[in-house]
This record gives sequence, C-alpha cells and structure tokens, in this order.
Amino acid sequence: MRFDVITIFPEFFSATTLSLLGKAVANGVLDIRAHNLRHWASGTHLSVDDSPAGGGAGMVMRSDVWGKALDAVLGQNWEADGRDTENAASGRSARPEGVVLAVPTPSGTPFTQRHAEYLATKERIVLAPGRYEGIDARVVEHYRSRCEVFEFSLGDYVLNGGEVACVALIEAVGRLIEGVVGNPQSLVEESHSSAGLLEYPVYTKPRSWRGLDIPAVLQSGDHAKVARWRQARALEKTAARRPDMIGALDPAQLDKHARAVLAENGFAHVRGWGRVTFGVPTAASVAALAAQTFPDACPHHMSSETIAEFIQTELSEQNFQAALADPAQIVYGAYFEDELVAYTWTVLPGADQPNPDADMAAKTPLGTAYLSKCYAHRKVRSSGISGALLEKTVRLLDNASYPVPAIALATNTENKRARKFYRHHGFRNGGRRTFVIGDTKNYDTWMVRELTDVKVRQM
Ligand code: 6GU
Repeated sequence: MRFDVITIFPEFFSATTLSLLGKAVANGVLDIRAHNLRHWASGTHLSVDDSPAGGGAGMVMRSDVWGKALDAVLGQNWEADGRDTENAASGRSARPEGVVLAVPTPSGTPFTQRHAEYLATKERIVLAPGRYEGIDARVVEHYRSRCEVFEFSLGDYVLNGGEVACVALIEAVGRLIEGVVGNPQSLVEESHSSAGLLEYPVYTKPRSWRGLDIPAVLQSGDHAKVARWRQARALEKTAARRPDMIGALDPAQLDKHARAVLAENGFAHVRGWGRVTFGVPTAASVAALAAQTFPDACPHHMSSETIAEFIQTELSEQNFQAALADPAQIVYGAYFEDELVAYTWTVLPGADQPNPDADMAAKTPLGTAYLSKCYAHRKVRSSGISGALLEKTVRLLDNASYPVPAIALATNTENKRARKFYRHHGFRNGGRRTFVIGDTKNYDTWMVRELTDVKVRQM
C-alpha cells in the first residue's frame, strides 16, 4: 500500500521510519512518501499561502499551489511492483478507484476504526495536510470529481496543522495491512474492534507493585472466569466513558452476565437502550409494582382470590410505608428511564417482621439477612436489571450496623427460573419449607449466599 503526503514539513514524516511502520517500509509492505509542497510554489519566497478573501485573521493556503502538487502526485500511477509511471494526461484521467485523497481538518468527519478498515482496502492514499487557517475550499471541491475525498478530524480540538493527523491516519491504516503487525490476533481483540467495547485493563509482572496487586482472578488460571472478568471490566469502562458506544451494542450479542454488568453500570435494553438507576422507592410506587409482579411468582393452581388477598394484606402501601420507616428493613428499587421496574425487600434480624422460617434461621449464621422479595416487571425480564438490583441490594448490606454474614431467601420450588437466577448470583440450596398463602400450602426451597467475600467479589 502506498501513502503520499504533500506537506510544507516533510521532516515530520520521518516518524513513519520508526518501529513497525518503519519495518514495513523497509520490507516493502508499505510505501510512504513525503513531498514538499513548496516544490510546486513559485516566486522568490515560494509562498504557499495568502490572506483570506473577505478579510479576517490568519492565512489560507493557495489553490493554485495545491492544484499543481495534487495533479503531479495523483498523476503518478502506482503499479503493484512499486514502479512510478508519470501520467501526462492526469488532469483528464478516469476517476481512479483505488485512490483516496485524505484531507485533515478540524471540521472533518471524526476518524474512526471503521474508516481505517475501509481505507486499508485501498491501493493508495494521498494526504493533503493544511497549515494556517486551512486550504482554499475550491481544492477539495475540484478533486471530488477526480477521486474519492475524505475530510477527517482527529477530535474536537485544534492542532496547528494536519501533519499529526496524517501520521495518525497512516499508522491506523498501515497497521491493518497484512505483514505490518506481527500477531494479527492482537488486531482482533483491541479497542473499537468488532465487540464495540473499550479494552479491559491489562497487567504484567511484578505481581505486587507499590501496594497494588494484580487482580486475583487473573492469577487463578480459570480461563472462563478470566474471560468473564475482562468482559465485565470492558463493559464497566465503556459505560462510564463512552455511553454513546453502549447505544450501538447489539443486545442479542450480550449474555446475561454482560447484561447484568451493564445494568449495574446504568444501561439496559428494553425495546431500546435506556438508563438504569437505583434508589429507595416511595411506598405507593413499590406497592403498585408489587401488585403487578406478585402473581407472576405464584404457582398455576393458586386461585386469583388468594393472590389478591395476599397482595391486599401483605403488599399494601401501609406495609411498605412501615418497612421503609424501619432501620432493620431495606426496600430498594431499580428504575428504567425513571420508571420503577424492579424492587427488593430485605429484612434484617430485629426487624418488626415475623421470623420467615425456623429451619432456615437455625441453619444460617446469626445475623443472616432475609431477602423477602425480589421482583421485576415482566417487561424488563432478561434485561439484566433484576441481576443488577440483586447485586446492588447485597452491597447495601455492607452499610448495616454489623457485618452481615449471609443473605437467605425462599422461592416456590416450582419456580425453576427464579432458582436458576439465584444460583447464578451465588446462592446455594439450603433446604425446604412450607409457606401458607391463604388456604394454599406452598413448598418452598430456601437458598443462602455467604457474604464474607462480598467486598472483593467482582462478577
Ligand atoms: Cl485533522 N487538523 C487540525 N488542524 N486540527 C485538528 C484535526 C485535524 N483534528 C483535530 N484537530
């Protein structure tokens, strides 16, 4: 692949003789040439700029000088064997397909990896970096009819000239050419590649440095765990720094771990991408949600009267009001686009609540918290919001007045989906209990999760 840069600072491009690009040039994989724009200037001062038409500060680069330079450089036909052949009829030649004229300008299209991938399919890129206030606008206008023109920007800041941007483009495109980067796999995994996420953090020896240790999971040798940890860190970083990239993710490509991590970090997909937040709900809003979600968790044979009765007596606004006022109870909610869509209700020992089950209490450590409710509206099912809310709730127990050793819960034994969900979140089966709702005896499984490692635990 060939790059031609026309510049008043050809020395700038000696940077491309270094490192991997330099090696690729030496090996003939890349052909990078810098041409001095002044070569096509005239007059005693070989000046390339003049004052702006219409007045104003600064200087504008002249179209006539750039025209001569671009005609000459674009007119050089490049053949696969690297030989140049001057094309006398360059001004009238057919639009060459493999050539792109790349013009750096702060008003250009933000340059991305997608552009680099596209440009890497071309035979030749001619670069025209301007200095001063830029190049006379007629230059780009004229060359659009002769070849493909790409006006690009590195970002929303202003450089003195386009040379740095040209070096950036040459490196970003050049390294995608086969034979430039040693290990092509590294191209696959890096930031902004197909996964659409920022890169996870990386570490190497020494294992401990200035009081900072390499995360333990990376030393565990458990490849699946390492992969999940890296995915979680990449999602977390992307959510914090580049929310725009989250909006471009395909939810079908995200597994449930990824969805839960994203929801914990403020994003979920429910029909479309939206913001997720967490907080203490009002008694009225949580009672309304509880009435909608409770029937979903009941076995098919339970009568609607029994369900309605339970909702009225146990999930009333007054009951939630009381729970919210009790320091030994935690009612917590997840919101999708500011609408309450999931809630948890956690009861600590000493709360003004009946003991949920004697067997459970006997078999769990003293001080175990009881997750009495964890419900999500069906429309946010599999969005990751429930998992994120459960993890947020568990972390709230860190703020309890004593170290909470474990959290336990009970679900209807027939509710396999719920039990699988809790298993994924570190709960194991503890035993059975019977739970009477109205005149119906329910067989529940209770489950427990130890919290001793909660502060260091990362999904
Ligand atoms: Cl491509 N050129 C200049 N002069 N400034 C820039 C830029 C380009 N991208 C960001 N700032």
